[in-house]
Amino acid sequence: MNIELKNKEQEFFAIVTDFDIKNLQDADFIKIKEAIEKYGVIVLKNQNINDDDQIKFSEKFGALEKALEHDRLKGIRSEITRISNVDENNNLLALDSEKVIYDRGNRSWHSDSSYKDIPSKFSILSSREIPNEGGGTEYIDARYALETWNKNNHKYSLNDLKDIICEHSIVYSRMVNTGDIFDNAYKEKMPFVKQRLIRTHPYTKRSAFYVGSHCSHVVGWDIEKGRKLIKDINDWIIKSGEIIHHQWNNNEIVIWDNRRVLHRGTYFDESSARRIMHRTTVAGDFPSYKEPVIL
Ligand code: OGA
Ligand code: MN
Repeated sequence: MNIELKNKEQEFFAIVTDFDIKNLQDADFIKIKEAIEKYGVIVLKNQNINDDDQIKFSEKFGALEKALEHDRLKGIRSEITRISNVDENNNLLALDSEKVIYDRGNRSWHSDSSYKDIPSKFSILSSREIPNEGGGTEYIDARYALETWNKNNHKYSLNDLKDIICEHSIVYSRMVNTGDIFDNAYKEKMPFVKQRLIRTHPYTKRSAFYVGSHCSHVVGWDIEKGRKLIKDINDWIIKSGEIIHHQWNNNEIVIWDNRRVLHRGTYFDESSARRIMHRTTVAGDFPSYKEPVIL
């Protein structure tokens, strides 16, 4: 196995080659898990896999989440979140179809499942069919943003922010990014959940901002004041560190740590290009508000 680190200063984003998830040795698994926790995002090159392979590999990291209803496809396993403009009959979906509009919500910076009471640890995304142009995925480092916060002139210190709790919701974020796409029954099933604004990683013991598009407001603050703070932090995450653009090849897997990085999808021509991505998502252990914070 070979691991090449892309951003040395941030210890962020690595490319892993000479390794096959279908022939996974215990020692390799330990190295892979360590690399995700150290570097936030890793790309595994040349992994020709199906859903069963992906699920079997992903389960090594812990229990998997079930996909949300808009992310499911008839006939595939419930652990697979499918991000795609191709339907179950292998036809391209219309530009104004619910799924295509819903998936565009992924083009805002976010952390997967931050709208769940127990948010996810890792996302494991595999490319099954990719457009010739566009359709890359971008990553930024919310830990570097926190660690450089004090070097800049911000209204609040990390100490001021340390114990802040925010509320996250996918109904809120989709409302902002795609318009009002959910029915009332779904909205009721997906209430706001509480998350810490600053999370300390249980293995590295280093902290990161935990925001992104699902993060709506600050508990106990005036809504607009809280949104201003969240916007300032989101803006700083993008400005402070490197935005790494991953242009997909076929048969790649990217794994990221949702406790540290934000990601987003990027534009491709949905009217003519097919894109099929399958994600498994490793569930967390606790709600973030039960985690200790170390600054
Ligand atoms: C995801 C996601 C973006 C993309 O898989 O969670 O946001 O590029 N993907 O498909
Ligand atoms: Mn996502």
